[in-house]
Amino acid sequence: QVADKRHFRHFMLKEIHEQPETAELWVARHLPPDLSSDDPVALPFDHSFYADLERIQILACGTSRHAALVGAYLLEQFAGIPTSVFYASEFRYAPPPLAPHTLTIGVTQSGETADTLAALAMDAQRRQAHGEPAFAPRQLGVTNRPESSLTRQVPYILDIGAGIEVGVAATKTFLGQLLAFYGLALAFAARRSHRSVTEIANLKDELRALPHQLHSLVELHDQRCEVLANRFADTQDVIFLGRGINYPIALEGALKLKEISYIHAEGYPAGEMKHGPIALLDARVPVVSIAMPGVVFEKVLSNAQEAKARDAKLIGVAPECPDTALFDALLPVPEVSEWISPLLTLVPIQLLSYHIAAHRGLDVDQPRNLAKSVTVE
Ligand code: G6P
Repeated sequence: QVADKRHFRHFMLKEIHEQPETAELWVARHLPPDLSSDDPVALPFDHSFYADLERIQILACGTSRHAALVGAYLLEQFAGIPTSVFYASEFRYAPPPLAPHTLTIGVTQSGETADTLAALAMDAQRRQAHGEPAFAPRQLGVTNRPESSLTRQVPYILDIGAGIEVGVAATKTFLGQLLAFYGLALAFAARRSHRSVTEIANLKDELRALPHQLHSLVELHDQRCEVLANRFADTQDVIFLGRGINYPIALEGALKLKEISYIHAEGYPAGEMKHGPIALLDARVPVVSIAMPGVVFEKVLSNAQEAKARDAKLIGVAPECPDTALFDALLPVPEVSEWISPLLTLVPIQLLSYHIAAHRGLDVDQPRNLAKSVTVE
């Protein structure tokens, strides 16, 4: 498969533009119209994958870990399964005590990240050594590379099918990983009867509408973020704030900006700002606030207001409405259910980082000191 930038200036931009297609393929594959009513999503797993499951632990690095954090939110809040996320590099040397009936999920786009593979191997070894069936290794890999080392290591694989990604900074594979977790959350919620038929059907309807929404969003924000990026030419620090299901998108926004523009950025859960980061704020520090309607909407807006009171320039990733008039610049996102919102808020976050880096004339696809996959510890 030969990678071609087509008319795009960088692979990263092309891959951001490919996201509607990533979503379309996912919907076609996992939400076909002929699904039976007791099986809300088509996943390649048999009964033993789901049986007696009590908890989930997810191991990942970098952007994959951010997808895992959204995944954990969905698995806990939508499907009702206790779920923990670990940096694979930390898990290797400080795993939690073994618990029975646990599914371990390794998330790695490349399927080759050394820390993630080693953490999974260690988890399997410990479980085998325990001997009791309740502790037997049950491992799932979520990857864009089904031919990778990961597949040889774990019994279950979810191929995110995002197609080759050349840019070092992950974009469409992040979306693909998120979608994998939406699929799992739907499957678990239905099997455990944690959500009503209507709640499940609503989430599925929103997922089916996603490709079209992503298409409009990418077109809109490609232009808006290019204009906004000019204002960031001399910025040294940026704070990203989000809460709840969008907190990991704030982390991802900060990571993307650091990776490709070399601007210092931090992602925080917005309620935590007052416990330290607020000391950094002044007119030179832009604050990107992800404020989507839902359980924490008013809270995020009031956190943004606190930043504004310290003269920070506020950029909102939020719907256009009277409540969001406080933002100095708005990157509008349509009002959707909170469950689905990270799949949309990720678009302006990616395009903002992209255009800032491109504006600074940097090598967006091959940032300094970074590799697409890190196969050493
Ligand atoms: C590298 C890349 C990151 C990526 C991380 C995990 O550090 O620069 O963009 O998120 O590896 O990669 P993986 O292939 O395991 O998802």
